[in-house]
Amino acid sequence: MKTMEWKDNKLILIDQTKLPDEVTFFTCNSYKDVIIAIKTMVVRGAPAIGVAAAFGMVLAHLKDENLEIVAEEIKSSRPTAINLFWAVDRVLTSNDPVQEALTMYKEDIETNLAIGRHGSEIINDGDTILTHCNAGALACVDYGTALGVVRSAFHQGKDINVICDETRPLGQGARLSVWEMQEENIPVKLIPDVASGYLMQQGKIDKVIIGADRVASDGIANKIGSLLVALAAKRFQIPFYVAAPLSTFDFDISIYDAEIEERGSEEVTHYGGTRICPKGTEVINPAFDIVPKDLITGIITEKGIINPEEFQSFFQQLKSQ
Ligand code: MRU
Repeated sequence: MKTMEWKDNKLILIDQTKLPDEVTFFTCNSYKDVIIAIKTMVVRGAPAIGVAAAFGMVLAHLKDENLEIVAEEIKSSRPTAINLFWAVDRVLTSNDPVQEALTMYKEDIETNLAIGRHGSEIINDGDTILTHCNAGALACVDYGTALGVVRSAFHQGKDINVICDETRPLGQGARLSVWEMQEENIPVKLIPDVASGYLMQQGKIDKVIIGADRVASDGIANKIGSLLVALAAKRFQIPFYVAAPLSTFDFDISIYDAEIEERGSEEVTHYGGTRICPKGTEVINPAFDIVPKDLITGIITEKGIINPEEFQSFFQQLKSQ
């Protein structure tokens, strides 16, 4: 099942806010619908946001709307995933928006398959892999980045186990990653976010693999909680990998200058619709955090795995291309 389909000049998205209980679809007839889908997390995950945004540009193009203005509006839907900006600019500067978006759709799947192939080399038979948030098929067009590595190793016949952090406040690990793994019979267990340090201390985790919303030469931004997982992994000498396509790379800024999205307080004050703190409680709800380069063992890309010592030269090389 793909996260999105382009059909009869409409973008059809799996509604991720309804998973895992219902597999329902959200149809975008206009770029405004795509913006709503991105803001409300019907579609989420950096690569999926990027490709959906590209089709948002296509919907505007088909209605003869001013693409320069639409581009700015779409870009303001979520700030952290650089794929959004990359995708909108790519369609804006292309001569054939429809073809460009369709190419990006296809490329996303090929890229993830390549990430899976490279990443599976670091997975050993018997490994237990911890992941945070959802960097799976649902975060992309298909297959996934971090979970693409897991899928690839599993399909090679490796005996692996996956542990998903629940990923408060929105539960992308519990709702989406666990569902994806169960759909393919990949062995999976769910843990509360606060349990990962203990499991590492007990020697129950062999590797951590997460995705990224932005990769810069000095670190990455990913779902809130990634930093604590990385710090614990360093303390217990557990390899910590980030799987991300080159479309997630930002060659221009330090990761500390990336805008970190702040989301609404209800996500924290409520759980499943029920308030869990006194009425009127003030909240801080950053959606992402920053994992500095020195906590990362390697970045798994479609071109191969980059080690921290190679970050600088890899970035310089790609920037000059
Ligand atoms: O807020 P979300 O659900 O869009 O956050 C998603 C993540 O943090 C993912 O790990 C990241 O986008 C990589 S997806 C391949």
